[in-house]
Amino acid sequence: MRFVLLSGLAMIAATAACAQDRGAALFEQHCAVCHQQKGEGIPGFAPRLAGNLAERAKKETGRAYLAQLVVSGMMGPIVSGGEKFNDAMPPFAALSDEEIVAVVGHVLGDLNGVPAEQRITPQDVAAARKRALPPNEVRRLREQ
Ligand code: HEC
Repeated sequence: MRFVLLSGLAMIAATAACAQDRGAALFEQHCAVCHQQKGEGIPGFAPRLAGNLAERAKKETGRAYLAQLVVSGMMGPIVSGGEKFNDAMPPFAALSDEEIVAVVGHVLGDLNGVPAEQRITPQDVAAARKRALPPNEVRRLREQ
């Protein structure tokens, strides 16, 4: 019994670790070109992601915004970390729900120290696909 329990826990831990590695690999592949490897961003072009997003992730509306942003992209003026940006983030609707959950999980978990229960879920991604906002309207969700 104890063995079954322990191996069960080890499997859960391994699955979580694997999802994080996957998220990091997806980030490297799709996001780092603009936001840089450690999410430090490019001043005047792509906002810093490290250390800037924990407050948003605490709110359901904040998680809805993050899911929508990756599904739809975003364009238009924003202020992030006290700095102004006005450029375009491309949409990543071609990634699967699981891939979007993993890559945003990496951004929130590894780059912002957000606990697992405050990261986005496949349901958040499905809702974002259904909402299908154009990129210039994604900022509306950001303001909520
Ligand atoms: C071609 C460059 C580019 C790529 C690739 C890119 N982004 Fe972005 N990202 C941007 C820009 C530019 C903005 C700001 C858009 C604006 O000014 O409206 C942004 C905004 C963001 C924000 C919002 C930050 C905030 O403070 O609200 C997050 C989160 C984000 N990106 C995550 C990602 C993730 C995750 C990926 C990979 C799946 C990714 N980005 C890929 C350019 C990029």
